[in-house]
Amino acid sequence: MYTELLKIIEGGLVGDKEKISNYSAILADNLEKQGEVALPKKIRAVLSKKKGTLTSLDGFSTQPVDAESRMNIVEISTPQIIDSQIVFSKYVEEEITGFIEYYKQRDSLLKAGLEISNSLLLYGPPGCGKTTVAQYISSITGLPLVTARLDGLVSSLLGSTAKNIRKIFDYASKRECILFLDEFDVIAKLRDDKNELGELKRVVNSLIQNIDGMNENNILIAATNHHELLDPAIWRRFSKVITLEKPKKEEIGKLLNIFLENASEDILNNNKKTEKIENAFVGFSHSDIKTIINNAIKKSIIYERNLVTSSDVLREIYFHQNHSIDSEDDFINYLLRNNAPHREINESLGIPLRKIQAVSKNQTSER
Ligand SMILES: Nc1ncnc2c1ncn2[C@@H]1O[C@H](COP(=O)(O)OP(=O)(O)OP(=O)(O)O)[C@@H](O)[C@H]1O
Ligand SMILES: [Mg+2]
Repeated sequence: MYTELLKIIEGGLVGDKEKISNYSAILADNLEKQGEVALPKKIRAVLSKKKGTLTSLDGFSTQPVDAESRMNIVEISTPQIIDSQIVFSKYVEEEITGFIEYYKQRDSLLKAGLEISNSLLLYGPPGCGKTTVAQYISSITGLPLVTARLDGLVSSLLGSTAKNIRKIFDYASKRECILFLDEFDVIAKLRDDKNELGELKRVVNSLIQNIDGMNENNILIAATNHHELLDPAIWRRFSKVITLEKPKKEEIGKLLNIFLENASEDILNNNKKTEKIENAFVGFSHSDIKTIINNAIKKSIIYERNLVTSSDVLREIYFHQNHSIDSEDDFINYLLRNNAPHREINESLGIPLRKIQAVSKNQTSER
């Protein structure tokens, strides 16, 4: 309640009707949740009387656009991410839960005189869950996700990047939402281009000012694959930094359970096979693992086999790594090293048993 009152006062001081209106509506909702009846009713009555004079009561209808291209520079979504479909390491899970809790209890923190900054920097290799985490936090908090793709913004709009960044933050500051700056490193990469040095400085300064000016009802999340390129001044702005790495064996096991759930009891019920597949997946991203398993499942459906075998999955892993099967011997060697049974290789992949046995014999004699 304190935060809404502060926002309404702020809005009043700068004459921002939209902000006043949005936060008054939130205040009425929250008062009602606390059991108040009369006051929320009165607030809503005042709001509806003034409705005609407001530009928009629908908090999300006036999206910011680029001045030249007239294109929207943000995308708004309300993701529904299912808890059980996501796998985090224990440490990441704790940090994300903590971050959400700080946000939920910001009123108490504010009352205790603490400074609040709900900003999170996510970094790590591609396909390891940065966008997924932003969607997950949106889904858990119920806040809409306002995504600004900085790559598009920077490359096409050289002169007006700083201006667009301001527009995005202005827009986000007027409603309760998560502002998600995806591909955040693009800002840092501007440094490589000599002609753009002045522009970079403007953009970095504009970013810093805007991040500092964020209010406690918003969450800011930025994601990058190249954290090392970020300016230390920007880095310092984030109250929490989490790195999302490629999954370790334990997490791979959980991912297999999710992705193979309806497709392969054969693998999941056999500890030895599961372990081999887990080992074969070490070094891959969450996203790669999903793609590889989905490819194996698709193939089994197309060829009307109702089961995905370990050979099917290993084939897709091998193919994903090499983009071809140049040498059948090498491929069979790979399958055998990963404990795929001869009969299964033969039945799933159509490789003649004689051929498998010949390669297997060679393998044993080489040892
Ligand atoms: N922790 C996870 N648990 C389960 N699935 C995941 C996880 N992380 C990623 N995935 C799967 O991988 C896909 C790609 O992940 P995501 O887009 O979040 O990666 P990213 O880190 O944002 O990658 P990029 O750097 O390419 O933007 C997701 O759609 C999801 O299916
Ligand atoms: Mg992403």
